[in-house]
Formats: sequence, C-alpha cells, structure tokens
Amino acid sequence: MAVEREESESQMTDIEIIFRTPSSAECNRIQAAVGWREAPTAVLETAFRNSLVVVCATADGKVIGMGRVVGDLTTWNYIQHVIVLPDWQKLGVGRRIMRALLGWLAEHAPPTSNCALVCRRHNVAFYERFGLREFVAEVPGMRMKLREAVTT
Ligand SMILES: CC(C)(COP(=O)(O)OP(=O)(O)OC[C@H]1O[C@@H](n2cnc3c(N)ncnc32)[C@H](O)[C@@H]1OP(=O)(O)O)[C@@H](O)C(=O)NCCC(=O)NCCS
Repeated sequence: MAVEREESESQMTDIEIIFRTPSSAECNRIQAAVGWREAPTAVLETAFRNSLVVVCATADGKVIGMGRVVGDLTTWNYIQHVIVLPDWQKLGVGRRIMRALLGWLAEHAPPTSNCALVCRRHNVAFYERFGLREFVAEVPGMRMKLREAVTT
C-alpha cells in the first residue's frame, strides 16, 4: 500500500494520502458532511471495485478525504468523487488527492489519453490549477441517467 506523508503545519497532524478504498461508512460520512446524499453500501462497493484507482486522505488514521478515477487507461480517464471534510478544506488536502490521482494516471496511462471530469461551476478554478480546462462550447459535455435513455 503506497503512502505519501506530509505534516500539516496548521494542524500539526500527520496527513497521509493512501491508495486504498474507503469503507462505505467512511465515504458516506464525508459525503454527508459536504451535503451529498449518502449512497447504499452496495452502490459504493461496486463503484470502488470498478474504479481504476481510489485514494483516501487520512489524519491520525481517520479518513478526511478521498478521490478516484474511472476509465480505460488508453483513451479517456475521468476523475470523480474528490471530496474533503469541511473542517479539513483549504489546507491542501484536495490538492494532494489530485496530485496522487494524476501521478497514478501518469504512471499507468499514455500522455495522449484524456483526463476529464464533471464539476460544479464553483469548483472550476480548483481543477484549473491542475491543468484541466473547460470544454469549449463546440465540445459540450453531456450526461443523462440511464433510465432517461431513448432507445426506440
Ligand atoms: C473542492 C475540494 C475538494 C477542494 O479541497 P480542498 O482540500 O479545500 O482544496 P485545497 O486546500 O487543496 O486547495 C488547493 C488550492 O485550491 C484552492 N481552492 C480550493 N477550493 C477551491 C475552489 N472551489 N475554487 C477555487 N479555488 C479553490 C485553494 O485555495 C488552494 O489554493 P492555494 O494553492 O492558492 O492555497 C473541497 O472544497 C470539497 O471537498 N468540496 C466539496 C465536495 C466537492 O464539491 N467536490 C468536488 C466534486 S466535483
């Protein structure tokens, strides 16, 4: 299990970025804290199992953040589920999660592959720090729930 250590100056707490899957309870605790709906255990376990990589940020062994990547390691890879507990935001934890995910991708996917994500407008500036750019209007991102798919 790869571990990246760094002492947070402001909290003097050992924050680690660990390549491991959070439990559904750990994940739901962070999701609830940032206002996201909690997800059923089976949904989270399937999502993590089918991810390319999942990282946790921990402080004194407690999960305070996470992030993951889904994709094919060849053409498109999508960063997902980057969340940090509110009490630990603005301390560089999100940046370290992103660096870990992008570093992992750089080792496992060709530089020609795409890295993409969907995010709320207020998080665009956060992701721009890592080189991501909004799609231009001619290349819109598109999304639907599968139940909305029109197949007739
Ligand atoms: C977005 C989020 C992951 C950022 O995590 P974080 O730990 O607070 O981010 P960091 O402290 O590592 O921030 C790194 C830099 O980005 C800046 N930053 C953080 N959030 C930002 C935002 N929403 N917009 C612009 N800049 C932001 C920080 O000020 C910091 O700047 P600096 O390098 O000049 O000091 C966190 O706010 C969060 O969990 N939000 C709720 C869940 C969410 O919306 N996740 C994104 C899903 S798409």
